[in-house]
Amino acid sequence: MTEDEQYYAATKANFLRELNTARDEDGLGSEIGDLQISSVLDVGCGIGQALYPLAVAAGAIAVGVDVSEDSLRIGRALYEEKFPDARVTFIRSMAEALPFENESFDVLNCGLALPYMDNALAISEMARVMRPGGTLLLKIHHPRFYIGEIVRGLKGGGPSPVIHGTRVLAAGTIYHIFGRQPRFKPLHESYQTEWMLRRELPRHGLMIARPQKRTNSATPAFVIRKVVQA
Ligand SMILES: C[S@@+](CC[C@H](N)C(=O)[O-])C[C@H]1O[C@@H](n2cnc3c(N)ncnc32)[C@H](O)[C@@H]1O
Repeated sequence: MTEDEQYYAATKANFLRELNTARDEDGLGSEIGDLQISSVLDVGCGIGQALYPLAVAAGAIAVGVDVSEDSLRIGRALYEEKFPDARVTFIRSMAEALPFENESFDVLNCGLALPYMDNALAISEMARVMRPGGTLLLKIHHPRFYIGEIVRGLKGGGPSPVIHGTRVLAAGTIYHIFGRQPRFKPLHESYQTEWMLRRELPRHGLMIARPQKRTNSATPAFVIRKVVQA
């Protein structure tokens, strides 16, 4: 198994455990409450586990996009096996060029996937395909996440987490100071902060409405709304 396949297999096992115990680890279902939702898009969806509480459980149309064929294959097999009647589609696509019409979705989710994307382009694309008044559930990687990674490496985890964490901290700091995200290796991953989101989101008609209920300091999570133009 490749490292990616191991990651997605572990995500699947965790998701199935939560299903059996009727838990929703990120509490995404509670963020949506009893709102009437007809369509949900998960950007950088992995195996699409977020689509279950957000869309499938409510009978909505669910679409997951990701660049990884491994994730999409595991996600498709998971939904075919566990929820054969669910209206779930997995599409291979870059977040920076979403293959959907403007204002196609009520709710978007993007969980722990922005560090790997061109943030400005991905945010712009998510805003474009979201209907006015729609909701984006966004979970980001704060610098604290990478500081934790570096500390784990220094405490015996080896040099790789230290090198990786240091690179992301350097790239994210460049992005925060200069407003331009490095997209060349090895500085192609960046952290995010609420401060940076408050700079980027309004450019695309988006605003932070509130933190998600299960936010935390290493991976803060927000409920974001698309402003309705008068
Ligand atoms: C850390 S995983 C998170 C997966 C899932 N959202 C979750 O919460 O478990 C990040 C995902 O983003 C995907 N990804 C990275 N860059 C991407 C891009 N430019 N466009 C779409 N997906 C991307 C990766 O393939 C991976 O599945």
